[in-house]
Amino acid sequence: MTLNLGVLASGRGSNLGAILRAEAQGELPARVAVVIGDRPGAGALDVARRQGVPAFCIEPGRDGRVAYEARIVSCLERHGVDLVCLAGFMRVVGPALLGRYPGRILNIHPSLLPAFPGRGAQRQAWEHGVKVTGCTVHFVDEGVDTGPIILQRAVAVGEEDDPEALAARILQEEHAAYPEAIRLLAEGRLTIAGRRVIVAAPGSGGEGGARCGGLY
Ligand code: GRF
Repeated sequence: MTLNLGVLASGRGSNLGAILRAEAQGELPARVAVVIGDRPGAGALDVARRQGVPAFCIEPGRDGRVAYEARIVSCLERHGVDLVCLAGFMRVVGPALLGRYPGRILNIHPSLLPAFPGRGAQRQAWEHGVKVTGCTVHFVDEGVDTGPIILQRAVAVGEEDDPEALAARILQEEHAAYPEAIRLLAEGRLTIAGRRVIVAAPGSGGEGGARCGGLY
């Protein structure tokens, strides 16, 4: 079964690009069915359109978060989306989206959570003086960067690093981590058990990530 992905983004879209590359190389039992940006200038919309992927700008209005998310959900549903991937989407997801896609929303964050949640994680880590940081792919819950962790990749912080150089190396790891997490879910190898995500061995998964649906 091929999973239909809906990618939500606010920024340049390099993680979207990495997911599309993995898809093109046949590394994912998944395809990006639609990309939604929350502002017209989101580079991710151009990344999508260049690849012929349907892309829509859905901006928040005065109607509040529930109505805003209802508009997003209706676009995702129109494109048959099974799994929502937040890729630099600068908004906290609320009950309307979470309720429609339980256990089916992922996020990528540029730190080793639970350290340095929220914005500017790479700079936060550098300012704190940690020797190791990295990136995390996790299920989304109602908190900010708090959901169960699927996988993490570490990046050493060098003496010569500045926040920009560090962020660039973390981004390289993000581009490997996000497609890998999507593949694990699409192969049905992820089970959420409380705060823990159990990753099954290859070949032992169910169909299309069925284990995650409804568990969350
Ligand atoms: C990434 O660093 C991601 O971890 C964070 O936002 C950034 C998005 O970058 N959530 P891009 O738009 O995918 O290039």
